[in-house]
Amino acid sequence: MSALKKTTDSTVSALYEFEDIQLTEKMFGKFAKHMYDLAGVDLPFSPKNHALIRNRIVKLLRRHGLKSYEEYWAMIEHGNHELTSEFISALTTNMTSFYREGNHFDFLAQQLPELYKKFGADIRMWCAAASTGQEPYTIAMTANEVMQSIPGMKARLLATDIDLQVLKKASIGAYEDREMQGLPSAQRLKYFEKVKKNDTEFWRAKDSIHDMIRFAQFNLMSPKYEFQHKFHVIFCRNVLIYFDEETTKKVIDGLTSCLAPGGYLILGHSESGNIKHANLKPLSRAVYQKT
Ligand SMILES: C[S@@+](CC[C@H](N)C(=O)[O-])C[C@H]1O[C@@H](n2cnc3c(N)ncnc32)[C@H](O)[C@@H]1O
Repeated sequence: MSALKKTTDSTVSALYEFEDIQLTEKMFGKFAKHMYDLAGVDLPFSPKNHALIRNRIVKLLRRHGLKSYEEYWAMIEHGNHELTSEFISALTTNMTSFYREGNHFDFLAQQLPELYKKFGADIRMWCAAASTGQEPYTIAMTANEVMQSIPGMKARLLATDIDLQVLKKASIGAYEDREMQGLPSAQRLKYFEKVKKNDTEFWRAKDSIHDMIRFAQFNLMSPKYEFQHKFHVIFCRNVLIYFDEETTKKVIDGLTSCLAPGGYLILGHSESGNIKHANLKPLSRAVYQKT
């Protein structure tokens, strides 16, 4: 490290100086608690979580020209909406891909005709941790395929996330090649078109799927899960893993309260271990039906 500081390149030198800033256990605790209070994300002290908070917040120190985690804490402790949003965005993990845990989309394709028969023309779905959008667009493509064989059927999707940065990307719906992982080329050509911006090529979702989705911010910690109508299908995948047991229970209660009886709740494969709710019947891997 000190050898690097001696470099004649002042930019590299400045960058590496940030690496030397220490995140004490006390400051780690403050950031972890703040994230828990804001988003329910549980980051108990461990070398892995220490590195996570340190590596992600050091970028914000650089951005704001600050020299210590203490200075950053003083700035965000009673921070405005923008600073809070930036903090949450830095500490959320947004990994996602098209057709992730693919059996859930086979299940959706099988059930949609039944839901249509039972509930009528307008099927309402909610993707509650939508990240950069690959999941809601996969749901929209799946529904679109079914709609093509059932004249009159309509499906709409609400896609939410706590993180405004990923939500913005999701609502634009344009992805570089490396972000298209998991999407078969036939689907890519049918539902996406190539666009170019600043010399970079993107695949942008066509209106046929883009217009099925409404994007909005929603914090799963919200005390009220109030929506105009009940949903017929809710996807809430790979986010409960970041919550503790008490928070998970509250979120499951909230999600179940806004499902129509007979509707489906779909969680991530690794999350269904100890989900118990009087009104949820387990059906298949991480899939529940509201009774
Ligand atoms: C690992 S991604 C999962 C994305 C997608 N559901 C999937 O399975 O591919 C987790 C997402 O949950 C979001 N998240 C974390 N805490 C949240 C909260 N309290 N309310 C809503 N979304 C939250 C994060 O911003 C992130 O985009």
